[in-house]
Amino acid sequence: MILCDKGLFTLHTKHTTYQMKADRHKVLLHTYYGPRISGGDLSYLIQYTDRSFSPCPNEAEADRTYSLDTLPQEFSTCGVGDYRLPSLELELDDGSHLADLRYADFRLEKGKYALEGLPAFFGGSEWETLTILLRDTAAEVDVELLYGVLEERDLITRAVRICNRSSRTVKLCQAASLCLDFPQGNLDFITFDGAHAKERCFHRSPVRPGVESVGSVRGTSSHHHNPFVILCTPDADEDHGLCFGAVLLYSGNFQAAVEQNQLETPRLTLGIHPYHFSWTLAPGESFTTPEAALICSPDGFTQMSQQFHRAFRDHLIRDPYAGKRRPVLINNWEATEFHFDASKLAAIARAAAPLGMELFVMDDGWFGKRDSDFSGLGDWFVNEDKLPGGLEALAPQLEGMDFGIWIEPEMVNEDSELYRAHPDWAFQAPRRAPARGRMQLVLDFSRQDVRDHIYQALRKVLDRVKVTYVKWDMNRSLTDVWSATLPADRQGEVFHRYVLGLYDMQERLRQDYPGLLLEGCSGGGGRFDAGMLYYAPQIWCSDNTDAIDRLRIQYGTSFCYPISAVGAHVSAVPNAQNGRMVSMETRGVVAMGGTFGYEMDLNQTSEEEREVIRRQVAFFKEHYDLIQRGDYYRLTSPLDNGPYTAWEQVSPDRREALVSLVTGNLRAAEPFRALRVKGLDPALVYRVNGEGAYPGDVLMHAGLPLPMPWGDYQSVQLYFQAI
Ligand code: GLA
Repeated sequence: MILCDKGLFTLHTKHTTYQMKADRHKVLLHTYYGPRISGGDLSYLIQYTDRSFSPCPNEAEADRTYSLDTLPQEFSTCGVGDYRLPSLELELDDGSHLADLRYADFRLEKGKYALEGLPAFFGGSEWETLTILLRDTAAEVDVELLYGVLEERDLITRAVRICNRSSRTVKLCQAASLCLDFPQGNLDFITFDGAHAKERCFHRSPVRPGVESVGSVRGTSSHHHNPFVILCTPDADEDHGLCFGAVLLYSGNFQAAVEQNQLETPRLTLGIHPYHFSWTLAPGESFTTPEAALICSPDGFTQMSQQFHRAFRDHLIRDPYAGKRRPVLINNWEATEFHFDASKLAAIARAAAPLGMELFVMDDGWFGKRDSDFSGLGDWFVNEDKLPGGLEALAPQLEGMDFGIWIEPEMVNEDSELYRAHPDWAFQAPRRAPARGRMQLVLDFSRQDVRDHIYQALRKVLDRVKVTYVKWDMNRSLTDVWSATLPADRQGEVFHRYVLGLYDMQERLRQDYPGLLLEGCSGGGGRFDAGMLYYAPQIWCSDNTDAIDRLRIQYGTSFCYPISAVGAHVSAVPNAQNGRMVSMETRGVVAMGGTFGYEMDLNQTSEEEREVIRRQVAFFKEHYDLIQRGDYYRLTSPLDNGPYTAWEQVSPDRREALVSLVTGNLRAAEPFRALRVKGLDPALVYRVNGEGAYPGDVLMHAGLPLPMPWGDYQSVQLYFQAI
């Protein structure tokens, strides 16, 4: 997979090739990333022409064709001639802000590197790791570029380790995880943006001169922009064109920036956001960036997405839930919000269990004085007014279902015992009163003592009864970020230390409760990122449970993240976020575009609706592997304003497929459309919903007349099975 030849490094995956080369001045140049090629030294593609107004390194002497400003760089520097987006910025104790990196050495190993305290893809001998050592000689700083290659998945991971080898202090002002120059130019930039209840909406525009960036400075990866972006050729669609997906395995401040420079060759950088970031390295200390991962697809978005999905399922989401079937859950939040007691919960459980639900999740409101947003967070003990006898008394009333609970460990309300005892544990800067968000403050999770206290309190709860699931929520953005434990010149570390603290606590939970299923959440999908998936196999996708809005949210999410990661529930109508009425059938079909569960008071449903639910749950369980692990195809885009949105899952052996379709705003006299199914085996013959006999090639190329539902927001599922 990885070939190293006198400073030339070629990384081959199943469909792609990536190449870099240390040149005559030991600058590591990026020479190629694209469809798989046989090899050779591609540095002949680099044009050396006189670059007036672009500085030349001192050792280039009179060679005016050699400038860092115009050469494609593998890991860009700053202050020494490259004016484009920097990947590394060092502040030395003499006050200089430069970084000048030259190739020194490399190491090739079998297997995949790990990153201490950070999420990372994992695996065995199917991986190879290349470490390239770059050195800033004057600063005495070593930079290791780590590359993990997973051939079968076209996955190339990257991370960077920066080590201070000098006897002086060095400060990092910027340290990206990934830098990628695109000498071919002419690309579109795709980002996934939105807001609370409107996360990860697909946006595409041509890369234009200057810098365009998305990111977060909220302390979480955010509802507003996702740490996953795509660069692609203008002709790229689901099945054609060259596209490059780049994802950051990180749950805090990030920046994905694209710069179109004077040569119209875009550069992408991805990593921790430089806002209020700095990291002090004492002599001998090192810093590791979060991991980034790349997949290039020469054949459009579907192939890229499917490769990400497979890599996430098999090499990021950890056991036991990587392959194990997850329970169909019932959550009480939309049914009760804070207003419940044991008998109300038991009544919901009594209605849910006979319909096939397997896990009861008690959401916010079970602890402390938690009757509204205003109080209780931080007090992780059961509210016995609501739940007399505690969890021990409630668990047996759940009709044999497993038991899950909601927590929000990073937060505190001022009206809480915790805050009254430790007001200094919440983020606040000297002489300033902190901003509130959802009436709560954020605990300083960069502090071990704060984390330990919360963890011990949670353990007492989790050890009382068998809790098999925890929903870990996080309901506000960070402000007033200042830690009492760090000196003034190291406050730039707090945002990142907060994320490391979060990962540390989630890892402890995983270790101490090995069978526990963790679901991530942050006001819906405000921390829906690949970093979180390393700890939590599923993440609540959005507080917006309206099936029609969800089409757009789940569509955007699917470009990177697998169905098995996307928390999706059927909830009551009219919908709590937008008041829309949608049938139970359609709500179920859309929730099967994710982990699938219910979040409503089933006692408020009719006998007919309960019958629909019973069938949905049975159907989901029967086709679990196909739905959750099948190859995913977006058949239409909900952004196209067409008559329907459709998607499909195909089993890896291609003997089964499920097409789901939801109508939009129908217009009379729509032209007849046949649905062309994707990914089937052309040589097999399929039954559709148990009927007929259609050759796979016919279904894929000629299609199937659609049993078009009558009316807005109706749905159909077509199950294809090889005869
Ligand atoms: C957030 C979550 C919801 C619910 C509430 C409880 O908004 O996204 O699912 O848990 O908090 O307060």
